[in-house]
Order: sequence, then C-alpha cells, then structure tokens
Amino acid sequence: MSYSKTQILDALKNVKHPETAQDIVAMGMVDDIWIEGSKAGFTLSFKKSNDPFKNSMQKVCIQAIEKYLGKDLNFTGNIIIKTPETKAAPEKQDSQSLKDVKNVIAVSSGKGGVGKSTIAVNLAISLAKTGAKVGLIDADIFGPSIPKMFKLEGQRPQVRKVNDVDMISPIENYGVQVVSIGFFVNPEDALVWRGAMATSALKQLIHQTEWGSIDYLVVDLPPGTSDIHLTLVQEVSVTGAIIVSTPQDVAIADAIKGIKMFTGKHINVPILGIIENMSWFTPEELPDNKYYLFGKDGCKNLAEKENIPLLGQIPIVQSIREGGDSGSPAVLNEGSIVEKAFKELSATIIKAIEDRNIKQEPTKRVEIKTK
Ligand SMILES: Nc1ncnc2c1ncn2[C@@H]1O[C@H](COP(=O)(O)OP(=O)(O)OP(=O)(O)O)[C@@H](O)[C@H]1O
Ligand SMILES: [Mg+2]
Repeated sequence: MSYSKTQILDALKNVKHPETAQDIVAMGMVDDIWIEGSKAGFTLSFKKSNDPFKNSMQKVCIQAIEKYLGKDLNFTGNIIIKTPETKAAPEKQDSQSLKDVKNVIAVSSGKGGVGKSTIAVNLAISLAKTGAKVGLIDADIFGPSIPKMFKLEGQRPQVRKVNDVDMISPIENYGVQVVSIGFFVNPEDALVWRGAMATSALKQLIHQTEWGSIDYLVVDLPPGTSDIHLTLVQEVSVTGAIIVSTPQDVAIADAIKGIKMFTGKHINVPILGIIENMSWFTPEELPDNKYYLFGKDGCKNLAEKENIPLLGQIPIVQSIREGGDSGSPAVLNEGSIVEKAFKELSATIIKAIEDRNIKQEPTKRVEIKTK
C-alpha cells in the first residue's frame, strides 16, 4: 500500500500544540515530508528551542499518522522526525556577548522626563528580586543617568582582552549588572559627541560587554525617536518595547509616536505595553489619597485605543524622586507602596514576555540596506 505526502500532512493536521491549541500544520511547524519505501519522515520545527512539549509531541505525531493512515502501515516504527534547533535560530542574537541573553526589554518614551530611567532602574531591581538574572544598559549616551541612580558614579568597570577584543565587565549593584557610557567618559564630554560617536559607543556597550547569562536585559533609552533607537534595533533582537508616559495629553501624543516607531513595518518590535508614570500623587503618610496632577487615566485610554496592554500605573511618590537622586532606588524599601507597585509591575511584565515568546517569533534585527 502506498501513501502520499498529502495524507501524512492531513494526519498531522489533527495534532495540536498544547500551548496554542492550534494545529501544527497551520502553525507552520511541519516541513520536508518524504516517503521512501517503508520509511517516511518530516521535519518538526519548534519555535522555542526549549519547548517542553518537544518529546511528547513527536510521539503524538507518530500516533496520528498511524491512526489516520491505518493500522497496517508498512512504515510503523519507521517514521523519522527531525527537530532542528529552532527554525528561528538565525534571528537570534548573533553577537558572542549576547548569546546567553534571553530577553531584551527596551524602555522608551516619546517625551523626555516622564520617568523612563526611574522606571528602568526600579523595574530592573524588582525583576532581580524575583531571582531572575538582570542586566541594564544605559543607552542614553548623551545624558546617562543610571550611574547616579545606582550609586555607581565615578566607578570604572574592569576591561579585559578576550580574543584580542576589549571586553567590559558590567558592574553589579542591587542585584543588577549595569553598564553605562557614564562609566567611561565625563557626561559633559559625551554631550558634544556627534551622532556617529554616540552610536558606536552604544554598539560597544552592547557587544563588548561580558553579559554572560541574563534573563532580562533592560535598555534605558533616551527620549524621542533617535539614531540610538535605530542602532538598538539593528544591533539587538529586541524582545519587546515598553512605553513610559505620564497621563498628560502632551506626553500621550508623543507616546503614540514612540509606539509607531517600534511597530513600523521596517522595525517590527512588539510593544509589551505601556506604563503610566506619575499617575497620581500619594502623600506617603496618606497612602489612600490620590491626587491626579497630570490628569486621570490618560495611558489607560491610550492603551485601549492602540490595543496594547496597560502594564501598570506608578504614582508620584517623594521617595521615588529621592531614591533616584541619592542612588538608593525606592523599590529597595521593603513593604513600601513603591516596592509593592513594582513587584506587581515586574510580575505583569514577566507574564507579558512569556506570552509574547509563545505567540510570536523572535524579533528580527533591522537591516539597513546601503547601496
Ligand atoms: N513616580 C515618580 N515619583 C516621583 N518622582 C519621579 C517619578 N518618576 C520620575 N520621577 C522624577 O522625575 C524626574 C525625571 O525622571 P527620569 O530621569 O527617570 O525621566 P526620563 O524619562 O528618564 O528623562 P530623560 O528623558 O531625560 O531620560 C527625576 O527627578 C525622577 O526622580
Ligand atoms: Mg532618562
């Protein structure tokens, strides 16, 4: 009895991936079906290299073929399934320094001064408190604020030669591995750099840092949509972007520009969601009182309109500003409203990243074609 490739394909349409509940043919997981005499086989590609269903699904595929093609199959026991190292592997970070970095989170905004760096710092620490390995790149080359916020001003990271290339060791504080241009140059010097110098500095921070194994690499971006943003999406496969905004109308208008930059068809970085900062003022001694200084629910409405998640709302709290200035971020105060707010926020972000990684392919780095 002979069988056709279409029959095998039809049989495999009955197999669903347990996580997505979609059939594996529709998901594009099946390829290269072949039949030779009493042997048959196909390639089954998993989007995640560590897909927990890799083994069990191969068994289910064989059972489906046997069930739908009849018991008297002459190739029972002769079905060969190849599972290549994730189909998306070529899109992965291909720089040696980033090879064990699992997720890259870009923290961005349209408008300046809305609290990107503050959110990036407190979020990174909060993520690290969950036991995750966390890195933070200060990508604000012209105005690095992370060293001060991490009480690392004046520090110089160690640099060692690896295969003749100078490699930076990030500096760890509060459980987070940090690099910033501020560790190498006087901030006033970087201010007068031309664009090309700034982008090459960012490339070095990305590729010439010994990141090692990192679960979440948080990138604190400068405001707006600049060369720095473009450099990031060219150099790194960014898992997702987080947009920070205040609820105020002028900030929202700029936040939309920030969202469009990432979702534009040449860039295509998924938006994990929006964080509303300075949502309301809460005096620390009256934690139940809320004063909506910048308007109410601006980001909630934006999130609904743009169909993206609102990841969280962070109030204006004096200790957040003080923590930034003193280099002792407010999230470190166990049991405080700030610590609780960021704990919730980091849990939401971890979940958003998990969802994104299940449902979407790794982000392709942007290729700028020069003629
Ligand atoms: N939720 C908050 N409560 C109190 N102060 C805050 C809060 N968020 C930010 N700030 C303060 O607002 C100021 C601006 O914040 P930050 O530097 O984080 O903004 P930014 O968006 O990174 O700015 P830039 O666009 O210049 O990079 C800082 O003084 C910071 O301490
Ligand atoms: Mg900043």
